[in-house]
Amino acid sequence: MRIDIITVSPELIKSPFEHSIIKRAIDKKLVSIHFHNLRDYAVNNYGKIDDAPFGGGAGMVLMIEPIEKCIGRLKAKRGYDEVIYMTPDATILHQQTANELSLKENIIILCGHYKGIDQRVRELYITKEISIGDYVLSGGELAAAVLCDSIIRLIPGVLGDETSALTDSFQDGLLAPPVYTRPSNYHNHKVPDVLLSGNFKKIDEWRHQKALERTQAIRPDLLKGN
Ligand code: ADE
Repeated sequence: MRIDIITVSPELIKSPFEHSIIKRAIDKKLVSIHFHNLRDYAVNNYGKIDDAPFGGGAGMVLMIEPIEKCIGRLKAKRGYDEVIYMTPDATILHQQTANELSLKENIIILCGHYKGIDQRVRELYITKEISIGDYVLSGGELAAAVLCDSIIRLIPGVLGDETSALTDSFQDGLLAPPVYTRPSNYHNHKVPDVLLSGNFKKIDEWRHQKALERTQAIRPDLLKGN
């Protein structure tokens, strides 16, 4: 998979790709990440990429021209499955979206900034708009990093244990059950007996029950569709 990220702050988004599972995925060539600084496509020699909104109001709006030039240059080299815009005024990222995107070959992610981007970019070039939650960040960079992490860990071969992504919270519509490790008794706080029993049928049943209880207590909305 190839991911091209268009941003006004490449430095802000680079570090999550330099560590842990994501770095390993890049090292193994299962994914490649390419950062594009929107300023390289500025409309003048002063690096202009934004302007005041028509009709007045606070903040600046990213102009269509630099974005069009950058996307155009990328599209001239290869086909893209999706051109995604990170913005709070969009549908919220869910596991299902991450699952679907992990199967794509080439995607572009455009990070918003300031007051947003010219609406015509959204109408002409964007194929999918994603928010990571009902709150406003200073820009789309951190949101793009979250989206990339959620996608990349699902690419086959990225996680050592192929099945571990399948047992994540949300993959079966439930929150994950509690987990424990050694010691089995910590200052009299004991691990549930069933997990030490070696009876895997019982353990599966216990985990499912705990997942249900946790979901009912914390996110009952997830159970509504079941
Ligand atoms: N840009 C600013 N806030 C955002 C959010 N919540 N999700 C995605 N992109 C954003």
